[in-house]
Amino acid sequence: MDKTLEIYWKLYNEIISNEVMIHKSQNLLRNFEEEFIDGPILELGCGQSNFLVEFSKTGKEIFAIDNEEFQLNFLKKRIESYTGDAFEKLHLLNITIPEKEIPQEIFSLVIASDFLHFFSIEDSKYIISQITSRTQKGSLIYVRVHSKSHSYSNSQNKNVHNYFKHFFTEDDLNNLFDEKYFDRMLFSNTVQDIRPKFEREFETKWTEKVLDEYKIFNQRQRQAHLDENIKEMSVGYIQCVYRRK
Ligand SMILES: C[S@@+](CC[C@H](N)C(=O)[O-])C[C@H]1O[C@@H](n2cnc3c(N)ncnc32)[C@H](O)[C@@H]1O
Repeated sequence: MDKTLEIYWKLYNEIISNEVMIHKSQNLLRNFEEEFIDGPILELGCGQSNFLVEFSKTGKEIFAIDNEEFQLNFLKKRIESYTGDAFEKLHLLNITIPEKEIPQEIFSLVIASDFLHFFSIEDSKYIISQITSRTQKGSLIYVRVHSKSHSYSNSQNKNVHNYFKHFFTEDDLNNLFDEKYFDRMLFSNTVQDIRPKFEREFETKWTEKVLDEYKIFNQRQRQAHLDENIKEMSVGYIQCVYRRK
C-alpha cells in the first residue's frame, strides 16, 4: 500500500472510534438483518470494516480478508473492544485477491465494499464466480463500487487508472450478478459533489500528517497542498444488495 494511504488508515484508526465509524457509515445491510441466514460472514478487502465491527455482535463467525497485516490487526482490536472479549470466531486472512482463492466455506453474507474497482472487469467476474460457488439460497451479497460518475473516471492521469482499474455502470453489475443466480434486492446510484464537514476535516488532518511525514515544513508549500485538499470533486458510487437464488 502507498505510504500516504497507510498514513490515512493509521490516522483513521487513531481518531475514529468504533461508535463514530458505525454512526457515520451508511450500512444498507442493516435493513436486511432479519433475513440473514445461518452461516459465516465474509468480507473482501475488509480494512477496518464498519460492517464487520457492527455485525460482530450477531455472534456469527467472521472471515476477514485483506492483504495488509496492519489493517487486519486494527480490525481485530476494533472487534475485540466492540464485543468486549477476545472474539474467537474471527478469522483474519492475509490474502491477495484474486491470486489466492477465497476460503471454501458457504457464507450467509459476503461484503465487497470499495473493493472491486481495484480490479479489471475480467478479474471482478472471476471474483464473483467464486462468490457464487461459496453462497447458497438466501445468502446476501453487498457491493459498493466507484461509478462512471466519479470525477476520476475521466482523469487523464494514467496512475489513477492503474490504481482504480474499473468504474462501474449499472449494466456492469447486472452482467456480473447473473439473474440466473441472484435477485437484486437494492440498487443505489449516488453522486456526492461536496464532502460533509466531518470528511473535510479528517482529510485536512490527513494532509497535515502526510506533509509532516515527508518533512514539508515550508508554509507556502504546505498551504498549496492544503488548498488542493479544499477542492471538491464528484464521488460517484453504486451500492447493491443481492440475494442468492
Ligand atoms: C478502500 S479500502 C476499503 C475498506 C473497507 N472495505 C471499507 O469499505 O471501509 C480497500 C481495502 O482493500 C485492501 N486490498 C486492496 N487490494 C487488495 C487485494 N488485492 N486483496 C486483498 N485486499 C486488498 C486494502 O488493503 C484496503 O484495506
